[in-house]
Amino acid sequence: MEQGKVLYFPNLAFIPEEKCGVLFSSRLADRKAKNISFNPATGLLKGALAGDHERSRLHKMMDAFAAAALQIILDLCPRYASGLEHARASYRPLEIAGREYTRLKDDKLLHVDAFPSTPTRGRRILRLFSNINPSGRPRIWHIGEPFESLAEKFLPSLGRPISSAAYLLAAVGATRGRRSAYDQLMLRLHNSAKRDAVYQANTPYEEFAFPAGSSWICFTDQVLHAAVAGQYALEQTFYVDVEAMAGPKNSPLRILERMTKRSLS
Ligand SMILES: [Fe+2]
Repeated sequence: MEQGKVLYFPNLAFIPEEKCGVLFSSRLADRKAKNISFNPATGLLKGALAGDHERSRLHKMMDAFAAAALQIILDLCPRYASGLEHARASYRPLEIAGREYTRLKDDKLLHVDAFPSTPTRGRRILRLFSNINPSGRPRIWHIGEPFESLAEKFLPSLGRPISSAAYLLAAVGATRGRRSAYDQLMLRLHNSAKRDAVYQANTPYEEFAFPAGSSWICFTDQVLHAAVAGQYALEQTFYVDVEAMAGPKNSPLRILERMTKRSLS
């Protein structure tokens, strides 16, 4: 996984207590937000257009999923426990195929994850996904070239990070904490890959259909991915300290530092 592979669990199903009915409706999502998010620390749900009845069921499902996802990561990767943040979970009740987004928000385009308002300062973005589609439909991903190859193509055109801009964004509250040089490069890498229509059209990728009732885990800051079709998936995000990894040298932080020959923290 640290080398940029996707761990696939064909029989690891998350089965909500409410198998049908209110949880499986695209009307639950606030269309502007695209996902419903859940903070396991506070229990707060965001982005849901739900009445009290749906909200309490959503809460129950997300809470159970977030706890199960944490347990799976701790069981599979005990070494991460010392540097793990159990961040937000999300529920994705909208069909991806055919939906129109602005180019930078369009996750149907190949990208590595980098969050504009949440700098990681080098920490890894580890995500567990589970396809809970009740009609058995798969979730389709495209998985692209290794991170190093992506970075080699785009790095020369990304420019140098600007620390004054990062301070300003943090000062006005546009980012949760200051973007490091690493965060700035990763955002530019995300944006440049999505904006480059020639790259999107020509770069090789593998298509994989994750069946309903399956789960998968990967470092989405490293795996070049696009989610092109599917409806009703759950996702749990973790942040992992680079030092907690078995091979910190495989992290995008260390890879970009080697390539740019400078410290990016
Ligand atoms: Fe993504």
